[in-house]
Amino acid sequence: MAKRVVGNSRKSKKAWSGRFSHPLAKSAESFTSSVHYDVRLYKQDIVQSMAYAQTLLKARILNVAECKKIINALQLILKGIAEGKIKLSREYEDVHMNIEHLLIEKIGDVGKKLHSGRSRNDQVSTDLRMYLKNEATEVSGLIVKLQEALLDIAEENIKVIMPGYTHLQRAQPVLLSHHLMAFYEMLERDKERFAKASESADVLPLGSGALAGTNIKLDRDSLAYELGFSKISKNSMDAVSDRDFAIDFVSAAAVLMMHLSRFAEEIIIWSTREFGFLTLSDKFSTGSSIMPQKKNPDIAELIRGKTGRVYGHLMAILTVMKGLPLAYNRDMQEDKEAVFDTVDTIKAVLDIFEQMIKSTKIESEQMEKSAQKGFLTATDLAYYLVGRGVPFREAHKVVGELVAYCEESNMELEYLSLKQLKQFSDAFTYDATRYLSTKNSVANKDLPGGTAPNRVKDAIKRARKNLTTHKA
Ligand code: ARG
Repeated sequence: MAKRVVGNSRKSKKAWSGRFSHPLAKSAESFTSSVHYDVRLYKQDIVQSMAYAQTLLKARILNVAECKKIINALQLILKGIAEGKIKLSREYEDVHMNIEHLLIEKIGDVGKKLHSGRSRNDQVSTDLRMYLKNEATEVSGLIVKLQEALLDIAEENIKVIMPGYTHLQRAQPVLLSHHLMAFYEMLERDKERFAKASESADVLPLGSGALAGTNIKLDRDSLAYELGFSKISKNSMDAVSDRDFAIDFVSAAAVLMMHLSRFAEEIIIWSTREFGFLTLSDKFSTGSSIMPQKKNPDIAELIRGKTGRVYGHLMAILTVMKGLPLAYNRDMQEDKEAVFDTVDTIKAVLDIFEQMIKSTKIESEQMEKSAQKGFLTATDLAYYLVGRGVPFREAHKVVGELVAYCEESNMELEYLSLKQLKQFSDAFTYDATRYLSTKNSVANKDLPGGTAPNRVKDAIKRARKNLTTHKA
């Protein structure tokens, strides 16, 4: 057995080295260190420490001069890291220990007082919550920008009619703007999800210590106020081991990506020669290294692809958390890369999505042409019969037979004469074919949530108003 040498621990630079006889193996150091990614939390960590110093002053652990000294030094460290003049080192494990080490290096023993009553367990959770609250707001801002782009395109193309699909088979005519507004609604719900995620991050864990609370009488309420939290955690053990707020954020991100992926999928399909509903800008398409004629929708494909990555992060955090006994466990350090990459991915995706759709050309003629073929107004014809007293199931059958007849004789419903129609039902009169134009079809969907032009215009107007009040 190795003999313990008194004072040997001083050779180690670790803040926790007191009870150790040997320094941490280099391999273990590089395995456990997280500073290369958690450096991203340096601002939150320093702002937190500044507020914490004030709380220690109130609790009489620091005197005024000491508190000032700590805050001034922290300010310089903040500036130094922001300007790239101070580099953090792997040797000090994580961002928290690095900053504490820099503080002690600058002001000596006074710096050693800052960690009184605090643990990295409540510290790291506080940092991450501050970070995610801010990111939730930023992401919502980017969602609003994408929604605005959607409203612009919907407004510019307000009259364009296209085939609406179910089972990817032509179903009924709809306005392109109605289709786009469907995505607007999904994004509205996404913003609500991020607001909820922000709410669940809005609880201050600081003051929970390592797990049991702390011996120092910290004024947690004013600490929360200073750091912009509206609540404090109610149970110290829950506080240091809770990552629900991170899961809520990544889960909101996963649903957002699911929506954007569906949209991307349509853009990919619509830009094919088979559909020809849109032409992507050269600026947002790529070529093939072998086939000279190719123009590929790689941006949309990558957006679809990156959805898998964000789903993966959600699954990663859920799995990290599933077997953990109370309270803090080092496993939880694995939350950060998942969270950070989620934030980077969704922000990049939202930004490029907006640029891509803004530069896309809508091929309205092709959309309109496609809406003419495939008996899309058959349901309207059935409703015409319903209006004339025919029970819907009966009307459905009559029009079904008419469609079969048209298919056999290779013609469209609107070219049927009254005489031909009458062979299928007596209820048809001279005005029946009026119901068959795509224009009438959409106009007749005149109820809340329907695709009638006046309804869609209202929806766009309401959406604009909603976005401006949201921004104000
Ligand atoms: N870097 C750690 C994390 O991200 C925080 C430190 C807590 N470590 C500890 N040994 N108690 O979770």
